[in-house]
Amino acid sequence: MLNIALPKGRLGERVYAMLKAAGYACPSIEQQDRRLIFENEETGVRYFWVKPSDVTIYVERGAADLGIAGKDILLENRPELYELLDLKTGICKMAVAGPAEFHDFRERTLRVATKFPNIAGSFYASRSRDVELIKLNGSIELAPILGLSDVIVDIVETGKTLAENGLTVLETVCPISARLVANPASYRFQTADILTLVARLQEQIPQ
Ligand code: PRP
Repeated sequence: MLNIALPKGRLGERVYAMLKAAGYACPSIEQQDRRLIFENEETGVRYFWVKPSDVTIYVERGAADLGIAGKDILLENRPELYELLDLKTGICKMAVAGPAEFHDFRERTLRVATKFPNIAGSFYASRSRDVELIKLNGSIELAPILGLSDVIVDIVETGKTLAENGLTVLETVCPISARLVANPASYRFQTADILTLVARLQEQIPQ
């Protein structure tokens, strides 16, 4: 049995559709109920719905053999696992955003609000820019509006949240997409099953 942690929400549903098309359907997961664990003995898969930011915890600790995680989570948490495939879905970018008129004169420490302090910290360290990182857990766009920070480092998908809050992308940090990740011990002991899944899933990746 391959245990697969799927991120709850739109991305997880999209990836499950890819897994289904790849031959790893699990009819019980398609019934819209509140269960979190589903299995299909025929195809040898067991899926769990987990909070997107928790996927790597399940995979790293071996509670799941495989998982689907955003590159943002991988860059931020640097978990010890194997990244097997770029699924080319859940595409967005990590960006610095702020008011359009913002200009960094560098005479004082830049205040940066973010859910991703490691990503933001490395980005500014690579430019030798002193920053004060303010870790928030959501609604990051509020920070520069209320004067809590000068800029934010956050995920931008459609850009709608920024636009509706009078903010704009100032710089791109890196592109982000969903990745298939594996627990290293699972990969070692279930190599054949995992590589079969990887090959079939690869055929479903949009070109
Ligand atoms: C993410 C991100 C932005 C928004 C970007 O937030 O933090 O707020 O999505 O998407 P857009 O460019 O398509 O508008 P999320 O929905 O995860 O909610 P959060 O504020 O609770 O983090």
